[in-house]
Amino acid sequence: MSEPLVLGIETSCDETGIGIVRGRTLLSNTIASSMDEHARFGGVVPEVAARAHLEALQPSIDAALAEAGVTLDDLDAVAVTSGPGLAGALMVGVGAAKGLAVSLDKPLYAVNHLVGHIAADILTPDSEPLEYPTIALLVSGGHTSLLHVRDLTTDVELLGETMDDAAGEAFDKVARLLSLPYPGGPEIDRAALDGDPDAIRFPRGLSRASDLAKHRYDFSFSGLKTAVARWVEGFEADEANRGAAIPVADVAASFREAVVDVLVTKALAACADLGVPRLLLGGGVIANRRLREVALARAEAAGVTVRIPPLSLCTDNGAMIAALAAELISSGRGPSTLAFGADSTLPVTEIQVAEAVPA
Ligand code: KG4
Ligand code: ZN
Repeated sequence: MSEPLVLGIETSCDETGIGIVRGRTLLSNTIASSMDEHARFGGVVPEVAARAHLEALQPSIDAALAEAGVTLDDLDAVAVTSGPGLAGALMVGVGAAKGLAVSLDKPLYAVNHLVGHIAADILTPDSEPLEYPTIALLVSGGHTSLLHVRDLTTDVELLGETMDDAAGEAFDKVARLLSLPYPGGPEIDRAALDGDPDAIRFPRGLSRASDLAKHRYDFSFSGLKTAVARWVEGFEADEANRGAAIPVADVAASFREAVVDVLVTKALAACADLGVPRLLLGGGVIANRRLREVALARAEAAGVTVRIPPLSLCTDNGAMIAALAAELISSGRGPSTLAFGADSTLPVTEIQVAEAVPA
């Protein structure tokens, strides 16, 4: 099958994503987010996300089919995110995908969410084919991972990941500290516009020589979040600042600089160490202006080419899941059996789960 028509279902976090691709061509990318329902809690509430997926799935599938101009019968395969992500949220997508595949008698591909983020690159219009190997930095509200991708369908290695908060989560938590609404990333980005990134020197997690020996490619943002909290407390407690407003713009710009600095430094260190002059960026935090700016400038200086898919493909979506399955199909891989479930900690090395053993 050269150009398989695949419907992908993504429910690992708060986006119900349904995407349809024909081979490497994007036909539709429908996203229903439950973000507004999480706003008053300042972060994604798993039960709320799972229920929202249940409600959004059927209308999203209908909308995606209509947009693509295809019917369920036309599909060559169904694809779904098996993990990693929120267990309850994943379960809704996995259940729906199994039901759909069985009732339509179509092959089912259960795939890895993180590898899906890399597959998003393939759908980027008018782009040159993805070259291997590449380093990939995936940053969202749920994950912060640095990967070495030798081949999308067979060989993805985890170099490092966050030991505590995800980068997006750090933005959300610091926004809350500064009384900015959820999601915090765009709010901090906006607040930082008028701020001085050098006003406050916040810590760069896991960047000291003693940390680098063991955690060269790992990230930690909880110390940074605490440092911002302490700084704000200190400002408020200082008699000299009595009646003065917290300098939100400077705090936001300095915090953002610390996150961006660590992300870009570690990603480019991986490129240099492994001799890989290519860096692929993905995840919702890529929307951050400063991150893109610093990554592009420092990569250019280091002779590294940066690829950034359009934002609609960087945030969680079903099209990237469909694209990964289409690549697996095109490279001759068989479908998954039904013997799989939601795996909230699925390792990135498991690109496809429960692949049927050929008879
Ligand atoms: O990939 P994504 O849509 O999926 C989830 O993780 O659910 O990423 C959302 C995350 C949130 O934490 C949000 O605050 C962050 O991405 N984000 C940003 C920006 N826009 C969204 N972080 C920093 N700067 C931004 N401009
Ligand atoms: Zn994601």
